Amino acid sequence: MEKKWWKESVVYQIYPRSFCDSNGDGIGDLKGITSRLDYLKELGIDVIWLSPVYQSPNDDNGYDISDYQAVMEEFGTMEDFDEMLAAAHKHDIKLVMDLVVNHTSDEHRWFVESRKSVDNPYRDYYIWRPAKDGKEPNNWGSCFSGPAWEYDPETDMYYLHLFSKKQPDLNWDNPVVREEVFQMMNWWLDKGVDGFRMDVISLISKKPDLPDGVPGINGYASFNEPANGPRVHEYLQEMRQKVLDRADTITVGECSGVTLEEAKKYARSDGKELNMVFQFEHMDVDADGTNKWSDKKMDLRDLKEVMTKWQKGLEDIAWNSLFWENHDQPRCVSRFGNNGVYREASAKMLATCLYMMQGTPYIYQGQELGMTNVPFENIEDFRDLDSINAYYELTGQGVFSKEEMMRFLRYKSRDNARTPFQWNDKENAGFTSGTPWIMVNPNYKEINAEEQLAREDSVFHYFQKLIRLRKEHEVIVYGTYDLLLPDSKEIYAYTRTLGEQKLLVVCSFSAEQVDFEIPAEFLKGEILIQNYAGSRVPGMDGLSSPESENVEQSGHMTLRPYEAIAVLL
Ligand code: NOJ
Repeated sequence: MEKKWWKESVVYQIYPRSFCDSNGDGIGDLKGITSRLDYLKELGIDVIWLSPVYQSPNDDNGYDISDYQAVMEEFGTMEDFDEMLAAAHKHDIKLVMDLVVNHTSDEHRWFVESRKSVDNPYRDYYIWRPAKDGKEPNNWGSCFSGPAWEYDPETDMYYLHLFSKKQPDLNWDNPVVREEVFQMMNWWLDKGVDGFRMDVISLISKKPDLPDGVPGINGYASFNEPANGPRVHEYLQEMRQKVLDRADTITVGECSGVTLEEAKKYARSDGKELNMVFQFEHMDVDADGTNKWSDKKMDLRDLKEVMTKWQKGLEDIAWNSLFWENHDQPRCVSRFGNNGVYREASAKMLATCLYMMQGTPYIYQGQELGMTNVPFENIEDFRDLDSINAYYELTGQGVFSKEEMMRFLRYKSRDNARTPFQWNDKENAGFTSGTPWIMVNPNYKEINAEEQLAREDSVFHYFQKLIRLRKEHEVIVYGTYDLLLPDSKEIYAYTRTLGEQKLLVVCSFSAEQVDFEIPAEFLKGEILIQNYAGSRVPGMDGLSSPESENVEQSGHMTLRPYEAIAVLL
């Protein structure tokens, strides 16, 4: 296995709008981020992935870009950006930009020109088609409800938008578009940024005939229909040659709709395309078939099957990204763990389970505090267009009642991850002195960074330790993975192996006690980390519980609710 710095790094995702507001307008900003770098250093992360900070009309909170070389006014100025970048580097933290180039904003000057006339020089920057039988050119749906086509009376044609109608898709088959994107990326590299997270990069190459797909619950085919299109690898290899090879970058492709076979091409270790991908199969374990709007609880066996498929499938061939959360997903304690008395235990357990696997860890802001989903009361509390559109579309079509849809939103809405970062127990959780752009989770008095920094056994300090362990033990980074107990509905256990080094990770996903037999060879091991104070493993240092004394040396363990333990041999 080839060693690389980006395999050994831990990435922290910042959603700038909700991280820290320095000027009291209720919106997080760049100066706010700069002021919190010490906090990130203390946590121990190596890389920041910054969600988009470019100029944008904010239809999709910055994922609709109107100028790739300007900073969103609400976030500050280009000088603020340069200062933040320099300060991050001073802290020995690298900065990864969010590259959103499947689409632009409809307010980008390219699109403003493109829609003017069929012979405008920018016409072919986007994907325009005439009506088919008086309707949309095909049955594709937008990710954010409704069709993926918008009729434009100006030229009597439709343009494609896999996301909102304010996010027209770029035409990557046009070599001029690719040159524009590559030039812009080079401009950011020249500024000194360290890499790119590439938004829905798996969608950039569409089949030229744009065929219909299978309709979903709202009658449209999934926005993922064009995933892994015919020329996507050719385009990424071109990007590698014209941009990425100029520097020692870190690259991660957000690859919705990616299969294992495709991921091996995107993230292949010969370095011809990207370093790694985000795949989403494990985010579908609690979906209702292909429909994300449900509050079905996952079956742990499904999660293990998916994670194991990727751990084993990419071994020695490509590289995994490890994430439970990002700005598009609900909070993992509320989803896979426990929101109640076991919140802290389950937040730590989930971190142990994930970050001891092979791949580069990604932490989403607030995950290191065990931040939870939000008790949104009504649809007016939401800001996310995906949530709002889905609510009106699906209740309007009678697919779900309003009550059902509110329940699903409270469980799955992207806004669960977008409420302000909880810095302290003061007004607005210390995020802003003004009125926050989205409600603050009312649990900030109990869950906040200040309290956790001051408390030894907090979730924050547990994350800090996990990060440190990854730096100390190569087996955590490079070891191969093997699943134990595939059929257990409560326990996720696996080993990692690197030469003589061996690691055992045992995690309970249950709120009840569960029995576990430690494989005999690990009885000689050393406990690296555990989320309850005091070991219950017989024959090991720190033996403390009365139960375990009875079963000394047998390896029998009664795991407490959401208990996690990692043992190094
Ligand atoms: C994926 C991003 O993560 C999401 O937030 C965004 O809405 C879409 N891509 C469109 O850019």
